[in-house]
Amino acid sequence: MIFYKFLKIFSKVILFPFIFLDRLKCISEWYFFKKCSPPAPHFIKQSLLLRHGIKNSIWVETGTYLGQTTKFLSEHFSFVHSIEPSKKCLRIAKRKLKFSKNVALYNGTSELCFEEICSSLKGDICFWLDGHYSEGITFKGVTDTPILFELDTIKKYLDNFSKTVILIDDIRTSHIDKKNYPPLSFYVNWADSVNMDWIIELDLFIIKSKGLPFYR
Ligand SMILES: C[S@@+](CC[C@H](N)C(=O)[O-])C[C@H]1O[C@@H](n2cnc3c(N)ncnc32)[C@H](O)[C@@H]1O
Repeated sequence: MIFYKFLKIFSKVILFPFIFLDRLKCISEWYFFKKCSPPAPHFIKQSLLLRHGIKNSIWVETGTYLGQTTKFLSEHFSFVHSIEPSKKCLRIAKRKLKFSKNVALYNGTSELCFEEICSSLKGDICFWLDGHYSEGITFKGVTDTPILFELDTIKKYLDNFSKTVILIDDIRTSHIDKKNYPPLSFYVNWADSVNMDWIIELDLFIIKSKGLPFYR
């Protein structure tokens, strides 16, 4: 374990200049060629998760995909539950997360696993709702997104949590795929109905318990 930690710090120091240059390249391309159009580079999304996440909270992620964000969250917060229906994605994620002791992976859809997880949670809880069909090896269910079911379930258990933060990714889909995704007004009404504050940053709809700060 100590050797693994040492190896991790050592590789971070060695790799730092390469990571820095790679991020500079990503951000330049995003700025110059995509005019900051969503999706933002992954590391920018991650910094939003870090800024909005509650210190020492438990996270629930829907859509593990290859485990990149799961790993990131496990390195900064106390525990991560992550749901992924695609066996192929989960196999890759499991390999990436084999040393992460504070992660529980669930093989199934949100519709199958989300409620059981929510019903077991207490304390400060953050949700990263990102489970949806995304082509390639990702899972396609009867509906492209379980977001309505997920928000319904959170509403049911909200009183069990102390403070709650919900980050919903790819909110642009409300504009570009009206057939499969709810309109923005749905999220606004949902947040109002549970007396929570909301904001949109980049491509994320962010809902927070009253009193939690949005800015540093
Ligand atoms: C955009 S990717 C998730 C990316 C990941 N959260 C990250 O931050 O790196 C979406 C994932 O959701 C999964 N998915 C599709 N339908 C789902 C469902 N009904 N419940 C949970 N996950 C689902 C897909 O298989 C895919 O791996």
